[in-house]
Amino acid sequence: MAASKTACVIGGSGYVAATLIKMLLEKGYAVNTTVRDPDNHKKVSHLVAFESLGSLKIFKADLTDAESFDAPIAGCDLVFHVATPVNFASEDPENDMIKPAIQGVLNVLKACAKAGTVKRVILTSSAAAVSINQLNGTGIVVDESHWTDVEFLSSAKPPTWGYPVSKTLAEKTAWKFAEENNIDLVTVIPSLMAGPSPTIDVPSSIGLAMSLITGTEFLINALKGMQMVSGSISITHVEDVCRAHIFVAEKESASGRYNCCAVNTSVPELAKFLKNRYPQYNIPTDFGDFPSKSKVIISSEKLTKEGFSYKYGIEDVYDQCLEYFKSKGILQN
Ligand SMILES: NC(=O)c1ccc[n+]([C@@H]2O[C@H](COP(=O)([O-])OP(=O)(O)OC[C@H]3O[C@@H](n4cnc5c(N)ncnc54)[C@H](OP(=O)(O)O)[C@@H]3O)[C@@H](O)[C@H]2O)c1
Repeated sequence: MAASKTACVIGGSGYVAATLIKMLLEKGYAVNTTVRDPDNHKKVSHLVAFESLGSLKIFKADLTDAESFDAPIAGCDLVFHVATPVNFASEDPENDMIKPAIQGVLNVLKACAKAGTVKRVILTSSAAAVSINQLNGTGIVVDESHWTDVEFLSSAKPPTWGYPVSKTLAEKTAWKFAEENNIDLVTVIPSLMAGPSPTIDVPSSIGLAMSLITGTEFLINALKGMQMVSGSISITHVEDVCRAHIFVAEKESASGRYNCCAVNTSVPELAKFLKNRYPQYNIPTDFGDFPSKSKVIISSEKLTKEGFSYKYGIEDVYDQCLEYFKSKGILQN
């Protein structure tokens, strides 16, 4: 059905976008994608390889350059705005992440409005835009009516606070612009993603998800930090997230926000699961008084009620990541 449709994917050098582009091409879509530097072989070589799968055009565009989106979006039926500035180590999150994320959303949506052909825009948001709040407890169900508490983050400034603020404000900006300009916008709100990547470099989110197996101390601490700030360790296979993007793009009745999260867990629970499944690795299981239960549960009920089903469970995610890490030489056995 998609053979005559053209989709634009913003940010083709990234982990999620690369997986999404491959899927769209395999489904028969013609795809335009944007990258910041088309001459960076390391960042575009997977895209060049995808050219054998179908019609793929690579354009140069930057989130901070409004005009750069006109050519890639012109004539497109669907636009997937996946790119976002990611710099967890930034000392200036305002300028490195928050402002360019917001500006990027506006620039992409303005180009969509200008094109006049775009039927729907799908924005990749993040669980970091829904789950961060000052509530106490365990098992607090977070659905699409929830928004991350930006005021709290901006004043308390927990580690990596700039990223959730950028994702929350970018999504809010998208909703405001879409409503004011009559754009059919749907947002997908994924949790931490893992699963093999077509990119040359190993994406940082897989490194984070795999940290208990690789034993990388600073990433294990980052995983614990993630649970403390966002309320859970919530994991989804990247392919399921990309399938969800295409599902909401194609499903006429889809509207609004959609959480996309297959598994909600905590660091201690995840470590226990991994230790049982992969006894050959030296996986830590003693976390002292670190919370063993997640504070929040990100609910995908809206997405599944719409008709979407997850293909991969936590076992598949980690079995595949293990093989992927072996193929990359990161794990030996
Ligand atoms: N990975 C996860 O676990 C996860 C979880 C929840 C939500 N998400 C969301 O999913 C989306 C994709 O994430 P990802 O993991 O694929 O991230 P990624 O691999 O780091 O990709 C980010 C992309 O954004 C592009 N980008 C950054 N700044 C840009 C700018 N100023 N202009 C143009 N492009 C720019 C990057 O281009 P360069 O290659 O040129 O830097 C890259 O293609 C993001 O919106 C993220 O917030 C990801």
